[in-house]
Amino acid sequence: MKFFIDTADKNKIMDLVPTGMIDGVTTNPSLIMKQGDDMATTIKGICNIQNGPVSAEVTAIDYAHMVEEGQYLASLADNVVVKVPLTVDGLIACKTLRHLKIDVNVTLCFSVAQALLAAKADATYISPFVGRLDDTGESGMDLIKDIVKMYGLYGFDTQVLVASIRNVQHVEQAAVLGADVCTIPPKVLLELYEHPLTEKGLDAFLVDWANTGQSILPEGHTNLEKSTKIKLSEDDGSFAI
Ligand code: E4P
Repeated sequence: MKFFIDTADKNKIMDLVPTGMIDGVTTNPSLIMKQGDDMATTIKGICNIQNGPVSAEVTAIDYAHMVEEGQYLASLADNVVVKVPLTVDGLIACKTLRHLKIDVNVTLCFSVAQALLAAKADATYISPFVGRLDDTGESGMDLIKDIVKMYGLYGFDTQVLVASIRNVQHVEQAAVLGADVCTIPPKVLLELYEHPLTEKGLDAFLVDWANTGQSILPEGHTNLEKSTKIKLSEDDGSFAI
């Protein structure tokens, strides 16, 4: 499963890229507003710091202007994915943009019927919003289960991108259900690393280790400069010196 990071904050993305866990980025108009810079500067900046797909959302609501905005957003960088809302005009714009070989993320999906329409419009990604559905008393994860099953039955290529993620359990459930992508807020991504038994176990190991009085590295051994040069290769994701 791919991890996209759900933020328009370049600094937060730069902090997380070295983890090697970030496969792409999603933004929306609210995240752009929160971040404060103009759309083009923000999207270009994000595309410069990582190579994965970056979703940038149109704000027009009629077909012609959506396509115009979508083409402009796609021209900002090679890895831009145009985000369109799940409306009649949005799905016609999706079909046109796909015909122009532009990747499209159809957003604001809240039902299986909407996900079916998006797949028939050849969307690259469908974004069902699990947190916002949970907020209404429905189950966001039941929707993911149904969409994954339905797409499997018909062999649709559209990838299920689980959005509006609020907690670690959302990510775990999406993974178990076979979703293609989760777009995760930076705070939740860091919480994925955490488990109280990991922390407790590490504390105990360190206390016992200190009691041995040993050091793993022999005295005088210094290789720190070389070790810190080890970084992720951007091409294949492998570690290289
Ligand atoms: C991302 O593509 C969505 O716009 C985002 O996940 C929505 O999240 P929210 O419901 O927390 O605003």
